[in-house]
Amino acid sequence: MEIIHDVAKMQARAETLRQEGRRIGFVPTMGYLHEGHLSLVRAARRENHIVAVSIFVNPAQFDRQEDLQSYPVDFEGDHAQVKAEGADLVFVPERQIIYPPGYATFVDVDRLTSRWEGAYRPGHFRGVTTVVTKLFNIVRPHRTYFGQKDYQQACIVERMVRDLDMDIEVVVLPTVREPDGLALSSRNVNLTPEERRQAPMLYQTLCWAAERIKGGEHNARVLEEGMQRMIHEGTTATIDYVALCHPETLEPLEQVAGPAVALLAVRFSKARLIDNLLINVH
Ligand code: PAF
Repeated sequence: MEIIHDVAKMQARAETLRQEGRRIGFVPTMGYLHEGHLSLVRAARRENHIVAVSIFVNPAQFDRQEDLQSYPVDFEGDHAQVKAEGADLVFVPERQIIYPPGYATFVDVDRLTSRWEGAYRPGHFRGVTTVVTKLFNIVRPHRTYFGQKDYQQACIVERMVRDLDMDIEVVVLPTVREPDGLALSSRNVNLTPEERRQAPMLYQTLCWAAERIKGGEHNARVLEEGMQRMIHEGTTATIDYVALCHPETLEPLEQVAGPAVALLAVRFSKARLIDNLLINVH
């Protein structure tokens, strides 16, 4: 496995591989890898000749400095894990390589970015789409892998790739969960033991909504109120949002009469968690 820190070297490596007819699968990450990331690396391993992983804690997508400073880092652990999964290339740039002095160009996706995470984390998605565009230009993948856990992020990246005619296939893979249903996240380490005990309630709430919909309750407000009640009664978390939305436009629904996605975000004392569930109404 080769570790590359330099943009020109990574681009040259990618160019050679492309000329040799090798297909590059790419998993962008911010490190502190868990099973969720590794499931993406494994899929990339199965479906491509070459697997590239990037590890870069992107300052442009943090709306709060303290969040950036407290973001967990474990380069040794990450390195060992991606190596064990058979990655070929790991791109690990320094911050000033990605954002050199004078850096002034940003990529912004309209509409899809304004609600939900976008409303609570101003500038977050602009930072994500900017760095993902740069990483695509540097790693030059044929396919890229994202987790459904960050549902809105995956929708936005798919939109950007279509809108900007990027010749890249975006693969979105299911959320990996703990046995008790909690979605894996680098932020789970910031839960207190008591909050960790409460946190599976988030997934239970999403499953409850899916069951109620199957059972014939289609009124989104009634469902959202039920979900809010469960979170209030079962946890000490503060709710940022709980919403039933169209799975592509992410516009809130009034009636859940077709495909939908349930999205939620809550704040525990030191960890903000998000989760979602796709719901199919027949
Ligand atoms: O999902 C993430 O870890 C990040 O948002 C990403 C896609 C690596 C961009 O920094």
